[in-house]
Amino acid sequence: MDLDFTAILPSLPYILKGIGVTLKIVLVAGLLGFAFGIILAIFKISKYKALHWFADVYTSIFRGTPLILQLMIIYYGAPQIIGFEISSYTAAVVSFSLNSAAYISEIIRAGILAVDKGQKEAAMALGVPGNRMMRDIILPQALKNILPALMNEFITLTKESAIVTVIAANDIMRRAYIVGGDQYRFFEPLIFAGLIYYFMVISLTFIGKLVERRMRQSD
Ligand code: ARG
Repeated sequence: MDLDFTAILPSLPYILKGIGVTLKIVLVAGLLGFAFGIILAIFKISKYKALHWFADVYTSIFRGTPLILQLMIIYYGAPQIIGFEISSYTAAVVSFSLNSAAYISEIIRAGILAVDKGQKEAAMALGVPGNRMMRDIILPQALKNILPALMNEFITLTKESAIVTVIAANDIMRRAYIVGGDQYRFFEPLIFAGLIYYFMVISLTFIGKLVERRMRQSD
Protein backbone atom coordinates (compact mmCIF):
# COMPACT_ATOMS: atom_id res chain seq x y z
CA MET A 1 0.00 0.00 0.00
CA ASP A 2 1.22 3.44 -0.90
CA LEU A 3 0.76 5.58 2.18
CA ASP A 4 2.87 8.70 2.56
CA PHE A 5 2.01 11.36 5.11
CA THR A 6 5.07 13.57 4.48
CA ALA A 7 3.35 15.58 1.73
CA ILE A 8 0.39 16.48 3.93
CA LEU A 9 2.38 16.91 7.14
CA PRO A 10 2.32 20.75 6.94
CA SER A 11 -1.46 20.60 6.44
CA LEU A 12 -2.21 18.55 9.54
CA PRO A 13 -2.63 21.58 11.85
CA TYR A 14 -5.09 23.00 9.33
CA ILE A 15 -7.18 19.82 9.50
CA LEU A 16 -6.87 19.68 13.29
CA LYS A 17 -8.38 23.17 13.53
CA GLY A 18 -11.57 21.61 12.21
CA ILE A 19 -12.03 19.89 15.58
CA GLY A 20 -13.12 23.22 17.08
CA VAL A 21 -15.63 23.80 14.29
CA THR A 22 -17.05 20.28 14.55
CA LEU A 23 -17.20 20.40 18.36
CA LYS A 24 -18.95 23.76 18.40
CA ILE A 25 -21.65 22.54 16.02
CA VAL A 26 -22.16 19.26 17.89
CA LEU A 27 -22.17 20.75 21.40
CA VAL A 28 -24.55 23.59 20.64
CA ALA A 29 -26.86 21.43 18.52
CA GLY A 30 -26.75 18.65 21.12
CA LEU A 31 -27.79 20.97 23.94
CA LEU A 32 -30.52 22.72 21.93
CA GLY A 33 -31.77 19.38 20.62
CA PHE A 34 -31.88 18.01 24.14
CA ALA A 35 -33.88 20.97 25.46
CA PHE A 36 -36.32 20.82 22.56
CA GLY A 37 -36.43 17.03 22.85
CA ILE A 38 -37.62 17.26 26.47
CA ILE A 39 -40.41 19.63 25.44
CA LEU A 40 -41.47 17.31 22.60
CA ALA A 41 -41.40 14.29 24.91
CA ILE A 42 -43.67 16.08 27.38
CA PHE A 43 -46.00 16.95 24.48
CA LYS A 44 -46.07 13.28 23.54
CA ILE A 45 -47.27 12.12 26.93
CA SER A 46 -49.56 15.09 27.51
CA LYS A 47 -53.31 14.65 27.68
CA TYR A 48 -53.84 17.42 25.10
CA LYS A 49 -54.43 15.86 21.69
CA ALA A 50 -53.11 18.86 19.74
CA LEU A 51 -49.69 18.78 21.47
CA HIS A 52 -49.55 15.05 21.00
CA TRP A 53 -50.33 15.38 17.34
CA PHE A 54 -47.79 18.17 16.80
CA ALA A 55 -44.96 16.20 18.42
CA ASP A 56 -45.81 13.05 16.49
CA VAL A 57 -45.97 14.79 13.11
CA TYR A 58 -42.76 16.64 13.92
CA THR A 59 -40.90 13.43 14.76
CA SER A 60 -42.27 11.67 11.72
CA ILE A 61 -41.05 14.40 9.37
CA PHE A 62 -37.59 14.87 10.85
CA ARG A 63 -36.98 11.15 11.20
CA GLY A 64 -38.52 10.39 7.84
CA THR A 65 -36.28 12.53 5.65
CA PRO A 66 -32.49 12.55 5.27
CA LEU A 67 -30.59 14.88 7.58
CA ILE A 68 -28.49 16.11 4.67
CA LEU A 69 -31.71 17.21 2.94
CA GLN A 70 -32.89 19.09 6.03
CA LEU A 71 -29.50 20.77 6.27
CA MET A 72 -29.58 21.90 2.65
CA ILE A 73 -33.21 23.04 2.79
CA ILE A 74 -32.46 25.18 5.84
CA TYR A 75 -29.26 26.60 4.38
CA TYR A 76 -30.42 27.32 0.83
CA GLY A 77 -34.05 27.95 1.76
CA ALA A 78 -33.37 30.47 4.52
CA PRO A 79 -33.87 33.53 2.25
CA GLN A 80 -37.31 32.20 1.28
CA ILE A 81 -38.24 30.97 4.78
CA ILE A 82 -37.04 33.86 6.96
CA GLY A 83 -36.07 36.49 4.39
CA PHE A 84 -32.28 36.50 4.76
CA GLU A 85 -29.24 34.28 4.27
CA ILE A 86 -27.73 32.44 7.20
CA SER A 87 -24.18 31.20 7.73
CA SER A 88 -23.34 27.56 7.21
CA TYR A 89 -22.63 27.31 10.93
CA THR A 90 -26.11 28.57 11.82
CA ALA A 91 -27.72 26.24 9.29
CA ALA A 92 -25.78 23.31 10.73
CA VAL A 93 -26.73 24.08 14.33
CA VAL A 94 -30.40 24.65 13.45
CA SER A 95 -30.83 21.54 11.33
CA PHE A 96 -28.89 19.27 13.70
CA SER A 97 -30.81 20.45 16.74
CA LEU A 98 -34.19 20.11 15.00
CA ASN A 99 -33.26 16.63 13.75
CA SER A 100 -31.77 15.49 17.02
CA ALA A 101 -34.78 16.74 18.99
CA ALA A 102 -36.96 14.26 17.10
CA TYR A 103 -34.74 11.32 18.10
CA ILE A 104 -34.13 12.58 21.63
CA SER A 105 -37.85 13.10 22.26
CA GLU A 106 -38.42 9.40 21.57
CA ILE A 107 -35.57 8.42 23.89
CA ILE A 108 -36.92 10.63 26.67
CA ARG A 109 -40.51 9.55 26.16
CA ALA A 110 -39.48 5.92 26.55
CA GLY A 111 -37.44 6.87 29.62
CA ILE A 112 -40.36 8.65 31.27
CA LEU A 113 -42.74 5.77 30.59
CA ALA A 114 -40.21 3.33 32.04
CA VAL A 115 -40.15 5.05 35.45
CA ASP A 116 -42.08 2.83 37.86
CA LYS A 117 -45.64 4.05 38.16
CA GLY A 118 -45.39 3.71 41.95
CA GLN A 119 -43.23 6.86 41.82
CA LYS A 120 -46.07 8.83 40.31
CA GLU A 121 -48.61 7.33 42.70
CA ALA A 122 -46.44 8.14 45.71
CA ALA A 123 -45.95 11.72 44.52
CA MET A 124 -49.67 12.13 43.98
CA ALA A 125 -50.42 10.67 47.40
CA LEU A 126 -48.06 13.25 48.91
CA GLY A 127 -49.83 16.01 47.00
CA VAL A 128 -46.84 16.99 44.83
CA PRO A 129 -48.18 19.16 41.98
CA GLY A 130 -47.94 17.79 38.41
CA ASN A 131 -45.14 19.96 37.01
CA ARG A 132 -42.97 19.58 40.11
CA MET A 133 -43.53 15.85 40.05
CA MET A 134 -42.26 15.77 36.47
CA ARG A 135 -39.27 18.02 37.15
CA ASP A 136 -38.12 16.70 40.53
CA ILE A 137 -39.20 13.06 40.58
CA ILE A 138 -39.90 11.53 37.16
CA LEU A 139 -37.38 13.30 34.87
CA PRO A 140 -34.28 12.78 37.08
CA GLN A 141 -34.95 9.05 37.23
CA ALA A 142 -35.74 8.86 33.54
CA LEU A 143 -32.50 10.70 32.66
CA LYS A 144 -30.36 8.21 34.50
CA ASN A 145 -31.83 5.30 32.57
CA ILE A 146 -31.58 6.90 29.16
CA LEU A 147 -28.01 8.13 29.54
CA PRO A 148 -26.53 5.40 27.29
CA ALA A 149 -29.11 6.13 24.58
CA LEU A 150 -28.42 9.87 24.82
CA MET A 151 -24.70 9.22 24.54
CA ASN A 152 -25.42 7.20 21.43
CA GLU A 153 -27.32 10.11 19.93
CA PHE A 154 -24.41 12.41 20.71
CA ILE A 155 -22.01 10.06 18.96
CA THR A 156 -24.31 9.89 15.93
CA LEU A 157 -24.41 13.68 15.85
CA THR A 158 -20.61 13.90 15.98
CA LYS A 159 -20.20 11.61 12.98
CA GLU A 160 -23.16 12.96 11.03
CA SER A 161 -21.76 16.48 11.44
CA ALA A 162 -19.35 15.60 8.63
CA ILE A 163 -22.15 16.33 6.13
CA VAL A 164 -21.78 20.08 6.78
CA THR A 165 -19.01 19.77 4.20
CA VAL A 166 -21.70 20.12 1.51
CA ILE A 167 -22.61 23.63 2.68
CA ALA A 168 -18.95 24.58 3.06
CA ALA A 169 -18.64 24.75 6.83
CA ASN A 170 -14.94 24.34 7.59
CA ASP A 171 -15.20 21.23 9.74
CA ILE A 172 -12.72 18.35 9.95
CA MET A 173 -14.17 16.58 6.93
CA ARG A 174 -14.13 19.58 4.63
CA ARG A 175 -10.61 20.55 5.64
CA ALA A 176 -9.39 17.04 4.87
CA TYR A 177 -11.14 17.23 1.51
CA ILE A 178 -9.58 20.61 0.72
CA VAL A 179 -6.10 19.36 1.61
CA GLY A 180 -6.74 16.33 -0.62
CA GLY A 181 -7.61 18.56 -3.57
CA ASP A 182 -4.59 20.73 -2.87
CA GLN A 183 -2.10 17.89 -2.79
CA TYR A 184 -3.76 15.62 -5.34
CA ARG A 185 -3.73 13.04 -2.55
CA PHE A 186 -7.00 12.29 -0.83
CA PHE A 187 -6.18 9.02 0.88
CA GLU A 188 -3.90 10.35 3.63
CA PRO A 189 -5.91 13.42 4.68
CA LEU A 190 -9.09 11.33 4.75
CA ILE A 191 -7.39 8.68 6.89
CA PHE A 192 -6.24 11.45 9.20
CA ALA A 193 -9.79 12.84 9.43
CA GLY A 194 -11.01 9.34 10.23
CA LEU A 195 -8.54 9.07 13.09
CA ILE A 196 -9.72 12.40 14.51
CA TYR A 197 -13.41 11.36 14.38
CA TYR A 198 -12.60 8.02 15.92
CA PHE A 199 -10.65 9.68 18.71
CA MET A 200 -13.55 12.06 19.38
CA VAL A 201 -16.06 9.22 19.56
CA ILE A 202 -13.81 7.18 21.85
CA SER A 203 -13.45 10.19 24.16
CA LEU A 204 -17.22 10.70 24.20
CA THR A 205 -17.76 7.05 25.03
CA PHE A 206 -15.27 7.33 27.87
CA ILE A 207 -16.93 10.46 29.29
CA GLY A 208 -20.33 8.77 29.00
CA LYS A 209 -19.11 5.74 30.95
CA LEU A 210 -17.69 8.02 33.62
CA VAL A 211 -20.93 9.97 34.05
CA GLU A 212 -22.89 6.73 34.10
CA ARG A 213 -20.74 5.30 36.85
CA ARG A 214 -21.13 8.49 38.91
CA MET A 215 -24.88 8.29 38.58
CA ARG A 216 -24.99 4.63 39.57
CA GLN A 217 -23.07 5.46 42.73
CA SER A 218 -25.98 7.51 43.96
CA ASP A 219 -28.23 4.44 43.82
N1 ARG B 1 -28.06 9.56 8.17
C1 ARG B 1 -29.24 9.65 8.94
C2 ARG B 1 -30.27 10.48 8.17
O1 ARG B 1 -29.89 11.17 7.25
C3 ARG B 1 -28.87 10.25 10.26
C4 ARG B 1 -29.95 10.91 11.02
C5 ARG B 1 -29.46 11.56 12.25
N2 ARG B 1 -29.66 10.69 13.35
C6 ARG B 1 -29.81 11.10 14.59
N3 ARG B 1 -29.90 10.19 15.50
N4 ARG B 1 -29.88 12.37 14.90
O2 ARG B 1 -31.43 10.44 8.41
